[in-house]
Amino acid sequence: MCGIIGYIGKKNSIPVLINGLKRLEYRGYDSAGIAFFRNDKIEVRRCAGKIRDLEASIKNENLKSVIGLGHTRWATHGRPSEENAHPHRAGGIVLVHNGIIENYFELREELKKKGHVFTSETDTEVICHLINRYAQKGLGFEDATREALKHVEGAYAVGIINEKEPDKIIAVKKDSPLVVGTGDGEFFIASDIPAFLKYTKNVVILENGDMAMLTHQGVSFSNVQTKKPLKKVPSKISWSPSMAEKGGYKHFMLKEIFEQPRAIADTIRGRFSVGKGEVNLDEFSMKESALKNLNKIFLVACGTSWHSALIGKYMIEDMARVPCEVDIASEFRYRKPFIPKGSLVIVITQSGETADTLAAQKESKKLGARVLTICNVVDSTSAREADSVFYTHSGPEIGVASTKAFTTQLTGLYLFSIALAKAKGKLHSREVKKLFNELLLLPEKVGKALQCNSAVLKIARKFCQVRDFLYLGRGINYPIALEGALKLKEISYIHAEGYPAGEMKHGPIALIDNDMPVLALAPDDNVFEKIISNMEEVKSRGGKVIAVATEGNTKVLSHASHVLSMPKTNYYLTPIIFSIPLHLLAYHMAVLRKCNVDQPRNLAKSVTVE
Ligand code: G6P
Repeated sequence: MCGIIGYIGKKNSIPVLINGLKRLEYRGYDSAGIAFFRNDKIEVRRCAGKIRDLEASIKNENLKSVIGLGHTRWATHGRPSEENAHPHRAGGIVLVHNGIIENYFELREELKKKGHVFTSETDTEVICHLINRYAQKGLGFEDATREALKHVEGAYAVGIINEKEPDKIIAVKKDSPLVVGTGDGEFFIASDIPAFLKYTKNVVILENGDMAMLTHQGVSFSNVQTKKPLKKVPSKISWSPSMAEKGGYKHFMLKEIFEQPRAIADTIRGRFSVGKGEVNLDEFSMKESALKNLNKIFLVACGTSWHSALIGKYMIEDMARVPCEVDIASEFRYRKPFIPKGSLVIVITQSGETADTLAAQKESKKLGARVLTICNVVDSTSAREADSVFYTHSGPEIGVASTKAFTTQLTGLYLFSIALAKAKGKLHSREVKKLFNELLLLPEKVGKALQCNSAVLKIARKFCQVRDFLYLGRGINYPIALEGALKLKEISYIHAEGYPAGEMKHGPIALIDNDMPVLALAPDDNVFEKIISNMEEVKSRGGKVIAVATEGNTKVLSHASHVLSMPKTNYYLTPIIFSIPLHLLAYHMAVLRKCNVDQPRNLAKSVTVE
């Protein structure tokens, strides 16, 4: 995730910016840059790679400036490179940006027609050009910014400086975090509190639509559109630096679980039009004709991403009626797969660097298939080598156990299934709109599902000392049973198995006794009655049933000793909602067992060896 730091005060800003960027390194980044004043001109230094490279490149310059901006970039639009690194400039306007501009393509084309020349592939650069355009028309810095942002759709946290008004930093926030720090005669902006925690603990957390104007005299706040002044009182942060890195959460995994409403909102941003009833196929780098001609799909991945692949099969076959095969990458690469003409291989990978997945991808290309990767890391090997890429935009995932990357992969698969079904004539625009409208509600529903956290903690307290755990699901939620079991195994070291509930009678039922907790996924769907029967089979043998069910369902209550209620959504999105209590359960069990949640033993975030 990108990081922002800005400083105005009495100190030399350069070391403050470099130090601030180092405090944001944990968020992951691929390039860095700073902007500062020298002889009344703004200068920019940027580089691809690490902050220490940036530091080394300016070491002998003896730079001094009492005002400056810094940025670490985690690529979303355009590869990691010096040209794409922030700060970006247009005329005298220089800015840093976090977030995603949805309509950057249209804005860029319009501005190009008016003679603007772009030097990067980023969505960010359009904001600089827009502000500069209004400034050239005679508006002051503040008004030019307000006017420009009226045209920008999407999420942004921006820090801006202007050569013509050198004693100001303007900061604006919409749907991307931004905080202001107020010290003694010095003021800061940052995407995250740790960036300036060393200098001040007084913080104002900006709300959507807030504009902050930082000068040497202080900070004033207003609404960016109405200009109405806002009164904001800084609060004192008592977090330690390591807590601050995790946004106040105890572990990265918990932070990432709670980040999901934002992550999913970023994944869907600009990816479809409800009005037109269409998925934006540019985001899959595919044409509708290519989708029309597909007659077979292979989904290939490892670990949690393989669980996404399993769910993808349910979505694609159900919506688009195109046959799918799902493979674990390490099996696919050696099984001599038969890939008929007209096949698409969808590779799913958070990191884009998993060795087995990359080998399977290579093998698919060798066998003549077209490859689409659903990937989180921009410009990763998988993204570079695939024919088409869909980036999940969930931001860097630091916890080894994948959570937000998983649910954003599912979101991508949902969009792909709709696009394919539409191209194949299997869905009417009316149905597509319904599916989109439900997707638009998803971030909020995920937020609601997260409210089960304290109920899950209570359940974890009750069961944290067990030796084994069984997870049961059916249909599209069967892979969620696998995912729940995998998470529990990998971070709490409790033996756990996920099973299709109907298969329990063919083996695992032998394990059920008074000590065996069984988590059953029981949403309101076509197999609800079936799973209730399976829960009864467990109960009658003394097993303890924890049910995850749809909110308002009362029938489930008499069949389980614990029930977690989840908001209702459509069939395809249920796995996203129902994965939330399972990820939380694994998390709390691991914490109660004093395990290293973010770095479980023997596991790696990115497995780059076979
Ligand atoms: C490792 C990680 C898992 C991840 C798997 C696949 O095992 O610990 O969390 O699901 O790799 O990684 P990928 O980056 O390809 O999704």
